[in-house]
Amino acid sequence: MGIQIRWLPRILPVFLLIPQMLLAGEVTEKELSGAKEQYRELCRECHGALRYGGYAPPLIPETLGRSNDEKLAQVILDGLPQTQMKSYRDKVSPAQAKALAALLRQPVGEISWESSDITASLIRPEKKPGKYTPPRDLEKTVLVVERGTGSLVVLDGDGLKQLDKAEVGRIHGGPKFTGDYKSVVVSTRDGTIARYELLEGGLSVMAKVAVNTRNVAVSPAGDWVAVANQLPRNLVLMDGQLRPKKVLPLKGTPSGVYHHPGTDKFVLTLRDAPQMIFVEYPSLKISEIELPIAFEDFTFVPGSNRVIASSRGGTEILLYDLNRHAVLGSIQTSGLPHLFSATFFMRDGKLKTSLNHIGVSKISVIDMESFSEEKTLALKGAGYFVRTHPGTPYLWADSNTEAIQLIDKRTLELLDKSLVPQPGKKAMHTEFTADGKLALVSIWDKDGAVVVYDSTTLKEVSRQPYNMPVGKYNALNKTDFPVR
Ligand code: HEC
Repeated sequence: MGIQIRWLPRILPVFLLIPQMLLAGEVTEKELSGAKEQYRELCRECHGALRYGGYAPPLIPETLGRSNDEKLAQVILDGLPQTQMKSYRDKVSPAQAKALAALLRQPVGEISWESSDITASLIRPEKKPGKYTPPRDLEKTVLVVERGTGSLVVLDGDGLKQLDKAEVGRIHGGPKFTGDYKSVVVSTRDGTIARYELLEGGLSVMAKVAVNTRNVAVSPAGDWVAVANQLPRNLVLMDGQLRPKKVLPLKGTPSGVYHHPGTDKFVLTLRDAPQMIFVEYPSLKISEIELPIAFEDFTFVPGSNRVIASSRGGTEILLYDLNRHAVLGSIQTSGLPHLFSATFFMRDGKLKTSLNHIGVSKISVIDMESFSEEKTLALKGAGYFVRTHPGTPYLWADSNTEAIQLIDKRTLELLDKSLVPQPGKKAMHTEFTADGKLALVSIWDKDGAVVVYDSTTLKEVSRQPYNMPVGKYNALNKTDFPVR
Protein backbone atom coordinates (compact mmCIF):
# COMPACT_ATOMS: atom_id res chain seq x y z
CA MET A 1 0.00 0.00 0.00
CA GLY A 2 2.19 2.50 0.86
CA ILE A 3 0.46 0.99 -0.94
CA GLN A 4 2.89 0.36 -2.77
CA ILE A 5 0.01 0.13 -1.50
CA ARG A 6 1.92 -2.79 -1.04
CA TRP A 7 -0.70 -5.11 -0.05
CA LEU A 8 -0.35 -8.00 -2.32
CA PRO A 9 2.44 -10.13 -1.01
CA ARG A 10 5.36 -8.92 -3.03
CA ILE A 11 5.88 -10.60 -6.29
CA LEU A 12 7.92 -13.51 -5.05
CA PRO A 13 10.71 -14.02 -7.47
CA VAL A 14 8.14 -14.73 -10.10
CA PHE A 15 10.62 -15.99 -12.52
CA LEU A 16 9.04 -19.38 -12.64
CA LEU A 17 10.23 -21.94 -15.09
CA ILE A 18 7.98 -22.20 -18.07
CA PRO A 19 6.86 -25.58 -19.29
CA GLN A 20 8.25 -25.02 -22.78
CA MET A 21 7.89 -28.62 -23.79
CA LEU A 22 4.23 -28.62 -23.12
CA LEU A 23 3.75 -25.56 -25.33
CA ALA A 24 5.95 -26.90 -28.06
CA GLY A 25 3.68 -29.90 -28.17
CA GLU A 26 0.59 -27.80 -28.62
CA VAL A 27 1.65 -25.05 -30.99
CA THR A 28 3.53 -25.68 -34.23
CA GLU A 29 6.45 -23.62 -35.55
CA LYS A 30 4.20 -22.37 -38.32
CA GLU A 31 1.55 -21.22 -35.88
CA LEU A 32 4.22 -19.51 -33.81
CA SER A 33 5.57 -17.59 -36.78
CA GLY A 34 2.00 -16.59 -37.65
CA ALA A 35 1.67 -15.34 -34.07
CA LYS A 36 4.83 -13.24 -34.48
CA GLU A 37 3.32 -11.68 -37.55
CA GLN A 38 0.05 -10.94 -35.74
CA TYR A 39 1.91 -9.55 -32.76
CA ARG A 40 3.77 -7.07 -34.97
CA GLU A 41 0.54 -6.01 -36.61
CA LEU A 42 -1.85 -5.87 -33.69
CA CYS A 43 0.03 -5.72 -30.40
CA ARG A 44 3.45 -4.12 -30.88
CA GLU A 45 2.17 -0.56 -30.80
CA CYS A 46 1.12 -0.86 -27.16
CA HIS A 47 3.12 -3.80 -25.80
CA GLY A 48 6.43 -2.93 -27.52
CA ALA A 49 8.55 -4.50 -30.24
CA LEU A 50 10.49 -6.55 -27.67
CA ARG A 51 7.35 -7.24 -25.54
CA TYR A 52 8.78 -5.01 -22.80
CA GLY A 53 5.50 -3.12 -22.64
CA GLY A 54 4.97 0.58 -23.11
CA TYR A 55 2.08 2.25 -21.36
CA ALA A 56 0.60 -1.24 -21.56
CA PRO A 57 2.10 -4.13 -19.57
CA PRO A 58 5.08 -6.18 -20.68
CA LEU A 59 4.17 -9.56 -22.15
CA ILE A 60 7.14 -11.67 -21.09
CA PRO A 61 7.43 -14.88 -19.06
CA GLU A 62 8.90 -13.03 -16.06
CA THR A 63 5.83 -10.85 -15.60
CA LEU A 64 3.16 -13.20 -16.88
CA GLY A 65 4.48 -15.87 -14.50
CA ARG A 66 1.27 -16.93 -12.89
CA SER A 67 -1.37 -16.55 -15.59
CA ASN A 68 -1.97 -19.73 -17.49
CA ASP A 69 -2.15 -19.88 -21.25
CA GLU A 70 -5.89 -20.32 -21.35
CA LYS A 71 -6.33 -17.14 -19.38
CA LEU A 72 -3.95 -15.26 -21.67
CA ALA A 73 -5.79 -16.48 -24.75
CA GLN A 74 -9.04 -15.40 -23.16
CA VAL A 75 -7.70 -11.90 -22.46
CA ILE A 76 -6.64 -11.64 -26.11
CA LEU A 77 -10.04 -12.79 -27.35
CA ASP A 78 -12.24 -10.90 -24.89
CA GLY A 79 -10.08 -7.97 -23.83
CA LEU A 80 -10.12 -6.45 -20.36
CA PRO A 81 -13.20 -4.35 -19.69
CA GLN A 82 -12.73 -0.66 -18.94
CA THR A 83 -9.11 -0.67 -20.17
CA GLN A 84 -7.33 -0.02 -23.47
CA MET A 85 -7.04 -3.78 -23.93
CA LYS A 86 -9.94 -4.43 -26.29
CA SER A 87 -11.31 -7.70 -27.62
CA TYR A 88 -9.47 -9.15 -30.63
CA ARG A 89 -12.14 -11.71 -31.54
CA ASP A 90 -12.72 -10.05 -34.90
CA LYS A 91 -9.05 -10.40 -35.92
CA VAL A 92 -7.76 -13.38 -33.94
CA SER A 93 -9.21 -16.93 -33.97
CA PRO A 94 -9.15 -19.06 -30.80
CA ALA A 95 -6.30 -21.14 -32.29
CA GLN A 96 -4.36 -17.97 -33.11
CA ALA A 97 -4.96 -16.66 -29.60
CA LYS A 98 -3.43 -19.85 -28.27
CA ALA A 99 -0.42 -19.36 -30.54
CA LEU A 100 -0.11 -15.75 -29.37
CA ALA A 101 -0.19 -16.94 -25.76
CA ALA A 102 2.62 -19.39 -26.58
CA LEU A 103 4.58 -16.57 -28.18
CA LEU A 104 4.27 -14.49 -25.00
CA ARG A 105 5.93 -17.41 -23.17
CA GLN A 106 9.05 -17.27 -25.28
CA PRO A 107 12.05 -16.07 -23.29
CA VAL A 108 13.35 -12.61 -24.19
CA GLY A 109 16.84 -12.97 -22.74
CA GLU A 110 18.46 -10.31 -20.59
CA ILE A 111 16.26 -7.25 -20.32
CA SER A 112 17.75 -3.89 -21.07
CA TRP A 113 15.97 -0.56 -20.61
CA GLU A 114 18.34 2.36 -20.68
CA SER A 115 18.30 6.12 -20.14
CA SER A 116 17.73 6.63 -23.84
CA ASP A 117 14.66 4.36 -23.71
CA ILE A 118 13.32 6.33 -20.75
CA THR A 119 13.87 9.63 -22.50
CA ALA A 120 12.24 8.35 -25.68
CA SER A 121 9.19 7.25 -23.68
CA LEU A 122 8.48 10.64 -22.08
CA ILE A 123 5.04 12.02 -22.84
CA ARG A 124 3.08 15.02 -21.70
CA PRO A 125 -0.52 13.84 -21.72
CA GLU A 126 -2.99 16.31 -23.14
CA LYS A 127 -5.25 17.98 -20.67
CA LYS A 128 -8.76 16.66 -20.66
CA PRO A 129 -11.30 19.20 -21.85
CA GLY A 130 -13.65 20.56 -19.23
CA LYS A 131 -13.29 22.57 -16.10
CA TYR A 132 -11.25 21.26 -13.19
CA THR A 133 -11.73 22.59 -9.68
CA PRO A 134 -8.68 22.00 -7.49
CA PRO A 135 -9.14 20.71 -3.93
CA ARG A 136 -10.06 23.59 -1.61
CA ASP A 137 -7.38 22.61 0.86
CA LEU A 138 -4.51 20.66 -0.69
CA GLU A 139 -3.44 18.92 2.49
CA LYS A 140 -6.89 17.45 2.90
CA THR A 141 -6.88 15.90 -0.58
CA VAL A 142 -7.75 12.22 -0.70
CA LEU A 143 -6.71 10.01 -3.60
CA VAL A 144 -8.31 6.71 -4.48
CA VAL A 145 -6.43 4.16 -6.57
CA GLU A 146 -9.04 2.35 -8.62
CA ARG A 147 -7.42 -0.82 -9.89
CA GLY A 148 -10.35 -1.89 -12.07
CA THR A 149 -9.88 1.12 -14.33
CA GLY A 150 -6.18 1.73 -13.65
CA SER A 151 -7.02 5.22 -12.44
CA LEU A 152 -6.02 7.75 -9.86
CA VAL A 153 -9.14 9.47 -8.52
CA VAL A 154 -8.87 12.87 -6.82
CA LEU A 155 -11.30 13.78 -4.03
CA ASP A 156 -11.74 17.07 -2.23
CA GLY A 157 -10.91 16.41 1.42
CA ASP A 158 -13.98 18.36 2.58
CA GLY A 159 -17.06 16.45 1.55
CA LEU A 160 -15.06 13.87 -0.44
CA LYS A 161 -16.44 15.05 -3.76
CA GLN A 162 -14.79 13.52 -6.83
CA LEU A 163 -12.80 16.17 -8.74
CA ASP A 164 -10.93 14.20 -11.37
CA LYS A 165 -9.96 10.76 -12.58
CA ALA A 166 -6.72 10.10 -14.46
CA GLU A 167 -5.93 6.82 -16.18
CA VAL A 168 -2.39 5.65 -15.45
CA GLY A 169 -2.28 1.84 -15.61
CA ARG A 170 -1.76 -0.85 -13.01
CA ILE A 171 -0.77 1.49 -10.17
CA HIS A 172 1.21 -0.30 -7.51
CA GLY A 173 2.34 1.16 -4.21
CA GLY A 174 1.13 4.36 -2.62
CA PRO A 175 1.06 7.65 -4.52
CA LYS A 176 3.81 9.97 -3.24
CA PHE A 177 2.90 13.59 -2.53
CA THR A 178 5.41 16.42 -2.75
CA GLY A 179 5.87 18.43 0.47
CA ASP A 180 3.63 21.26 -0.77
CA TYR A 181 0.93 18.71 -1.71
CA LYS A 182 0.74 20.23 -5.19
CA SER A 183 1.96 17.17 -7.07
CA VAL A 184 1.67 13.42 -6.77
CA VAL A 185 3.93 10.78 -8.30
CA VAL A 186 2.69 7.24 -8.89
CA SER A 187 4.26 4.10 -10.30
CA THR A 188 2.81 1.04 -11.96
CA ARG A 189 4.14 -2.49 -11.79
CA ASP A 190 4.85 -2.14 -15.47
CA GLY A 191 7.46 0.59 -15.08
CA THR A 192 5.30 3.65 -15.72
CA ILE A 193 5.91 6.72 -13.60
CA ALA A 194 3.31 9.49 -13.81
CA ARG A 195 3.10 12.90 -12.20
CA TYR A 196 -0.29 14.42 -11.41
CA GLU A 197 -0.76 18.15 -10.70
CA LEU A 198 -3.40 18.90 -8.08
CA LEU A 199 -3.65 22.65 -8.78
CA GLU A 200 -4.10 22.38 -12.54
CA GLY A 201 -5.66 18.93 -12.71
CA GLY A 202 -4.32 16.17 -14.97
CA LEU A 203 -1.09 14.29 -15.53
CA SER A 204 1.77 16.60 -16.46
CA VAL A 205 4.31 13.97 -17.51
CA MET A 206 4.71 10.20 -17.84
CA ALA A 207 7.72 8.00 -18.47
CA LYS A 208 8.34 4.29 -18.86
CA VAL A 209 11.28 3.82 -16.56
CA ALA A 210 11.61 0.03 -16.49
CA VAL A 211 9.89 -3.20 -17.46
CA ASN A 212 8.92 -4.08 -13.89
CA THR A 213 9.01 -1.60 -11.04
CA ARG A 214 9.05 -2.09 -7.30
CA ASN A 215 8.21 1.44 -6.12
CA VAL A 216 8.88 5.15 -6.40
CA ALA A 217 10.00 7.89 -4.01
CA VAL A 218 9.93 11.64 -4.44
CA SER A 219 11.87 14.45 -2.74
CA PRO A 220 9.75 16.87 -0.65
CA ALA A 221 10.45 19.68 -3.15
CA GLY A 222 9.34 17.40 -5.98
CA ASP A 223 12.58 18.01 -7.86
CA TRP A 224 13.94 14.45 -7.59
CA VAL A 225 12.31 11.12 -8.22
CA ALA A 226 13.88 7.74 -7.46
CA VAL A 227 12.51 4.51 -8.92
CA ALA A 228 13.49 1.03 -7.69
CA ASN A 229 13.14 -1.55 -10.45
CA GLN A 230 13.15 -5.33 -10.59
CA LEU A 231 13.51 -5.64 -14.37
CA PRO A 232 16.15 -4.57 -15.03
CA ARG A 233 17.44 -4.49 -11.47
CA ASN A 234 18.37 -0.87 -10.99
CA LEU A 235 17.64 2.42 -9.31
CA VAL A 236 16.74 5.22 -11.70
CA LEU A 237 17.18 8.81 -10.52
CA MET A 238 15.26 11.46 -12.38
CA ASP A 239 14.53 15.14 -12.04
CA GLY A 240 11.01 16.32 -11.25
CA GLN A 241 10.11 16.26 -14.94
CA LEU A 242 11.10 12.59 -15.10
CA ARG A 243 14.24 13.18 -17.15
CA PRO A 244 16.71 10.41 -16.22
CA LYS A 245 19.89 11.65 -14.53
CA LYS A 246 21.49 8.45 -13.36
CA VAL A 247 20.89 4.72 -13.60
CA LEU A 248 22.47 2.69 -10.83
CA PRO A 249 22.57 -1.07 -11.50
CA LEU A 250 21.83 -3.15 -8.39
CA LYS A 251 23.45 -6.36 -7.24
CA GLY A 252 20.19 -7.70 -5.86
CA THR A 253 16.42 -7.25 -5.93
CA PRO A 254 15.28 -3.99 -4.40
CA SER A 255 12.93 -4.21 -1.41
CA GLY A 256 12.05 -0.57 -1.92
CA VAL A 257 13.29 2.99 -2.16
CA TYR A 258 12.14 5.72 0.21
CA HIS A 259 12.89 9.33 0.84
CA HIS A 260 14.99 9.54 3.99
CA PRO A 261 12.99 11.99 6.14
CA GLY A 262 14.84 15.13 7.18
CA THR A 263 17.69 14.63 4.69
CA ASP A 264 18.40 15.20 1.00
CA LYS A 265 18.74 11.50 0.38
CA PHE A 266 16.93 8.49 -0.94
CA VAL A 267 17.54 5.18 0.75
CA LEU A 268 17.22 1.74 -0.76
CA THR A 269 17.64 -1.80 0.53
CA LEU A 270 17.94 -5.13 -1.24
CA ARG A 271 15.92 -8.18 -0.34
CA ASP A 272 18.76 -10.56 -0.97
CA ALA A 273 21.86 -8.65 0.14
CA PRO A 274 22.64 -7.00 3.51
CA GLN A 275 23.16 -3.57 2.10
CA MET A 276 21.59 -0.15 2.49
CA ILE A 277 22.29 2.32 -0.29
CA PHE A 278 21.94 6.09 0.06
CA VAL A 279 21.76 8.51 -2.84
CA GLU A 280 22.22 12.15 -2.03
CA TYR A 281 20.72 14.76 -4.34
CA PRO A 282 21.50 16.88 -6.26
CA SER A 283 25.08 15.47 -6.30
CA LEU A 284 23.77 11.91 -6.76
CA LYS A 285 26.66 10.77 -4.61
CA ILE A 286 26.20 7.18 -3.47
CA SER A 287 27.11 5.73 -0.10
CA GLU A 288 26.45 2.33 1.38
CA ILE A 289 26.30 0.66 4.72
CA GLU A 290 26.59 -3.01 5.44
CA LEU A 291 23.60 -4.35 7.36
CA PRO A 292 23.58 -7.29 9.78
CA ILE A 293 21.03 -9.05 7.56
CA ALA A 294 19.21 -8.31 4.31
CA PHE A 295 16.06 -6.23 4.90
CA GLU A 296 13.03 -7.72 3.26
CA ASP A 297 11.11 -4.57 4.08
CA PHE A 298 11.54 -1.57 6.34
CA THR A 299 9.81 1.54 7.55
CA PHE A 300 11.01 4.69 9.30
CA VAL A 301 10.13 5.19 12.94
CA PRO A 302 8.56 8.67 12.96
CA GLY A 303 10.70 11.49 14.26
CA SER A 304 13.85 9.39 14.55
CA ASN A 305 16.75 8.07 12.58
CA ARG A 306 15.63 4.54 13.17
CA VAL A 307 13.91 1.97 11.03
CA ILE A 308 12.10 -1.22 11.81
CA ALA A 309 12.98 -3.92 9.34
CA SER A 310 12.01 -7.49 8.66
CA SER A 311 14.34 -10.32 7.75
CA ARG A 312 13.86 -12.51 4.72
CA GLY A 313 11.11 -14.99 5.40
CA GLY A 314 9.92 -12.85 8.27
CA THR A 315 11.43 -14.68 11.21
CA GLU A 316 12.73 -11.53 12.84
CA ILE A 317 11.89 -7.84 13.18
CA LEU A 318 14.80 -5.51 13.90
CA LEU A 319 15.03 -2.01 15.26
CA TYR A 320 17.99 -0.46 13.48
CA ASP A 321 19.69 2.88 14.06
CA LEU A 322 20.87 4.55 10.86
CA ASN A 323 23.24 6.95 12.64
CA ARG A 324 24.97 4.39 14.78
CA HIS A 325 24.66 1.54 12.28
CA ALA A 326 23.53 -0.64 15.12
CA VAL A 327 20.77 -3.10 15.88
CA LEU A 328 18.95 -1.77 18.96
CA GLY A 329 16.54 -4.64 19.38
CA SER A 330 14.99 -7.65 17.74
CA ILE A 331 11.77 -9.62 17.99
CA GLN A 332 11.30 -13.19 16.82
CA THR A 333 8.13 -13.57 14.81
CA SER A 334 6.22 -15.90 12.57
CA GLY A 335 4.50 -14.80 9.42
CA LEU A 336 5.99 -12.05 7.31
CA PRO A 337 5.30 -8.78 9.10
CA HIS A 338 3.82 -6.22 6.75
CA LEU A 339 5.99 -3.32 7.82
CA PHE A 340 5.06 -0.79 5.26
CA SER A 341 1.52 -0.80 6.52
CA ALA A 342 2.65 -0.54 10.13
CA THR A 343 0.90 2.21 12.03
CA PHE A 344 2.43 4.24 14.85
CA PHE A 345 0.46 5.64 17.77
CA MET A 346 0.87 6.96 21.30
CA ARG A 347 -0.51 5.10 24.32
CA ASP A 348 0.13 6.35 27.86
CA GLY A 349 2.74 8.71 26.43
CA LYS A 350 4.65 5.88 24.78
CA LEU A 351 5.20 5.18 21.12
CA LYS A 352 3.71 1.93 19.84
CA THR A 353 3.46 0.33 16.46
CA SER A 354 0.95 -2.17 15.22
CA LEU A 355 1.26 -4.40 12.20
CA ASN A 356 -0.26 -7.27 10.31
CA HIS A 357 1.52 -10.49 9.39
CA ILE A 358 1.08 -11.69 5.83
CA GLY A 359 -0.55 -15.09 5.82
CA VAL A 360 -1.09 -15.24 9.61
CA SER A 361 -4.39 -14.23 11.23
CA LYS A 362 -3.02 -11.90 13.85
CA ILE A 363 -1.81 -8.40 14.51
CA SER A 364 0.97 -7.40 16.85
CA VAL A 365 1.30 -4.32 19.00
CA ILE A 366 4.93 -3.50 19.66
CA ASP A 367 6.21 -1.14 22.33
CA MET A 368 8.92 0.93 20.68
CA GLU A 369 10.80 1.82 23.86
CA SER A 370 11.46 -1.75 24.98
CA PHE A 371 11.07 -3.03 21.41
CA SER A 372 9.03 -5.98 22.53
CA GLU A 373 5.71 -7.45 21.49
CA GLU A 374 3.21 -6.08 23.96
CA LYS A 375 0.17 -7.80 22.60
CA THR A 376 -0.89 -10.22 19.89
CA LEU A 377 -4.50 -10.28 18.79
CA ALA A 378 -6.07 -13.05 16.75
CA LEU A 379 -8.06 -11.81 13.76
CA LYS A 380 -10.75 -13.45 11.65
CA GLY A 381 -8.24 -13.80 8.82
CA ALA A 382 -4.79 -12.75 7.63
CA GLY A 383 -5.11 -9.13 6.58
CA TYR A 384 -2.73 -6.52 5.23
CA PHE A 385 -3.32 -3.18 6.92
CA VAL A 386 -3.65 -1.82 10.41
CA ARG A 387 -4.24 1.91 10.44
CA THR A 388 -5.05 4.55 12.99
CA HIS A 389 -5.06 8.31 13.55
CA PRO A 390 -5.21 10.48 16.70
CA GLY A 391 -8.78 11.33 15.66
CA THR A 392 -10.05 7.78 16.24
CA PRO A 393 -10.06 5.70 19.44
CA TYR A 394 -9.39 2.53 17.44
CA LEU A 395 -6.85 0.60 15.44
CA TRP A 396 -8.56 -0.46 12.21
CA ALA A 397 -7.36 -3.84 10.98
CA ASP A 398 -8.47 -5.56 7.82
CA SER A 399 -8.62 -9.33 7.97
CA ASN A 400 -8.95 -10.43 4.35
CA THR A 401 -12.65 -11.05 5.06
CA GLU A 402 -15.81 -8.96 4.88
CA ALA A 403 -14.96 -7.50 8.29
CA ILE A 404 -12.79 -4.62 9.48
CA GLN A 405 -11.83 -5.41 13.08
CA LEU A 406 -11.37 -2.68 15.64
CA ILE A 407 -9.01 -2.57 18.60
CA ASP A 408 -9.50 -0.06 21.40
CA LYS A 409 -6.24 1.88 21.68
CA ARG A 410 -6.62 2.33 25.45
CA THR A 411 -7.27 -1.27 26.41
CA LEU A 412 -5.68 -2.96 23.39
CA GLU A 413 -8.72 -5.25 23.31
CA LEU A 414 -10.68 -6.21 20.21
CA LEU A 415 -14.18 -4.80 20.04
CA ASP A 416 -16.90 -7.45 19.88
CA LYS A 417 -18.44 -5.52 17.04
CA SER A 418 -16.63 -5.41 13.73
CA LEU A 419 -17.58 -3.36 10.68
CA VAL A 420 -18.98 -5.20 7.69
CA PRO A 421 -19.40 -2.64 4.90
CA GLN A 422 -20.93 -5.23 2.57
CA PRO A 423 -21.66 -8.81 3.59
CA GLY A 424 -19.82 -11.35 1.47
CA LYS A 425 -17.38 -8.86 -0.05
CA LYS A 426 -13.87 -8.24 1.16
CA ALA A 427 -13.31 -5.07 3.19
CA MET A 428 -9.76 -3.76 2.95
CA HIS A 429 -7.46 -0.89 3.79
CA THR A 430 -8.54 1.98 5.99
CA GLU A 431 -7.47 5.58 5.46
CA PHE A 432 -8.52 8.67 7.40
CA THR A 433 -9.34 12.20 6.45
CA ALA A 434 -6.70 14.76 7.49
CA ASP A 435 -8.51 15.49 10.78
CA GLY A 436 -9.08 11.80 11.43
CA LYS A 437 -12.82 12.24 11.92
CA LEU A 438 -13.75 10.03 9.01
CA ALA A 439 -12.44 6.58 8.10
CA LEU A 440 -12.54 5.37 4.50
CA VAL A 441 -12.75 1.62 3.92
CA SER A 442 -12.58 -0.19 0.55
CA ILE A 443 -14.94 -2.89 -0.60
CA TRP A 444 -12.56 -4.83 -2.79
CA ASP A 445 -14.73 -5.89 -5.69
CA LYS A 446 -15.53 -4.97 -9.29
CA ASP A 447 -18.80 -3.64 -7.93
CA GLY A 448 -17.00 -2.24 -4.94
CA ALA A 449 -17.16 1.01 -3.04
CA VAL A 450 -15.37 3.33 -0.68
CA VAL A 451 -17.41 3.40 2.50
CA VAL A 452 -17.01 6.37 4.83
CA TYR A 453 -17.46 5.92 8.59
CA ASP A 454 -17.45 8.31 11.49
CA SER A 455 -14.19 7.17 13.08
CA THR A 456 -15.53 7.49 16.64
CA THR A 457 -19.22 6.48 16.48
CA LEU A 458 -18.53 3.92 13.72
CA LYS A 459 -21.70 4.99 11.92
CA GLU A 460 -21.69 4.90 8.14
CA VAL A 461 -21.68 8.41 6.68
CA SER A 462 -21.68 7.71 2.93
CA ARG A 463 -20.48 5.38 0.20
CA GLN A 464 -19.30 5.87 -3.36
CA PRO A 465 -19.11 3.11 -5.98
CA TYR A 466 -15.67 2.08 -7.30
CA ASN A 467 -14.25 -0.76 -9.38
CA MET A 468 -11.60 -2.36 -7.14
CA PRO A 469 -10.62 0.64 -5.00
CA VAL A 470 -7.37 -0.84 -3.73
CA GLY A 471 -6.19 2.14 -1.70
CA LYS A 472 -6.98 5.62 -0.41
CA TYR A 473 -4.39 8.22 0.51
CA ASN A 474 -4.76 11.49 2.35
CA ALA A 475 -2.06 14.05 1.53
CA LEU A 476 -1.31 15.07 5.12
CA ASN A 477 -1.33 11.55 6.54
CA LYS A 478 0.99 10.35 3.79
CA THR A 479 3.53 13.15 3.95
CA ASP A 480 4.10 13.83 7.61
CA PHE A 481 5.22 10.44 8.84
CA PRO A 482 2.60 10.87 11.47
CA VAL A 483 2.35 9.16 14.80
CA ARG A 484 -1.22 8.06 14.48
C1 HEC B 1 -4.24 0.00 -27.55
C2 HEC B 1 -3.20 -0.63 -26.79
C3 HEC B 1 -3.16 -2.15 -26.77
C4 HEC B 1 -3.08 -3.02 -27.83
C5 HEC B 1 -3.02 -2.68 -29.33
C6 HEC B 1 -3.01 -4.36 -27.27
N1 HEC B 1 -3.06 -4.29 -25.91
FE1 HEC B 1 -2.93 -5.86 -24.61
N2 HEC B 1 -3.16 -4.59 -23.04
C7 HEC B 1 -3.25 -3.23 -23.11
C8 HEC B 1 -3.40 -2.69 -21.78
C9 HEC B 1 -3.51 -1.21 -21.41
C10 HEC B 1 -3.41 -3.78 -20.91
C11 HEC B 1 -3.54 -3.73 -19.38
C12 HEC B 1 -4.97 -3.56 -18.97
C13 HEC B 1 -5.08 -3.51 -17.47
O1 HEC B 1 -5.10 -4.59 -16.85
O2 HEC B 1 -5.12 -2.41 -16.95
C14 HEC B 1 -3.25 -4.96 -21.73
C15 HEC B 1 -3.19 -6.24 -21.23
C16 HEC B 1 -2.89 -7.37 -21.96
C17 HEC B 1 -2.69 -8.68 -21.41
C18 HEC B 1 -2.76 -9.05 -19.92
C19 HEC B 1 -1.37 -8.88 -19.35
C20 HEC B 1 -1.20 -9.29 -17.92
O3 HEC B 1 -0.09 -9.07 -17.38
O4 HEC B 1 -2.15 -9.76 -17.29
C21 HEC B 1 -2.41 -9.51 -22.44
C22 HEC B 1 -2.11 -10.98 -22.37
C23 HEC B 1 -2.43 -8.70 -23.65
N3 HEC B 1 -2.73 -7.41 -23.32
C24 HEC B 1 -2.16 -9.19 -24.89
C25 HEC B 1 -2.28 -8.44 -26.06
C26 HEC B 1 -2.10 -8.98 -27.37
C27 HEC B 1 -1.68 -10.41 -27.68
C28 HEC B 1 -2.35 -7.98 -28.26
C29 HEC B 1 -2.38 -8.04 -29.75
C30 HEC B 1 -3.29 -9.04 -30.29
C31 HEC B 1 -2.64 -6.78 -27.48
N4 HEC B 1 -2.60 -7.11 -26.16
C32 HEC B 1 -2.91 -5.53 -28.01
C33 HEC B 1 -3.21 -2.47 -24.27
C34 HEC B 1 -3.15 -2.96 -25.56
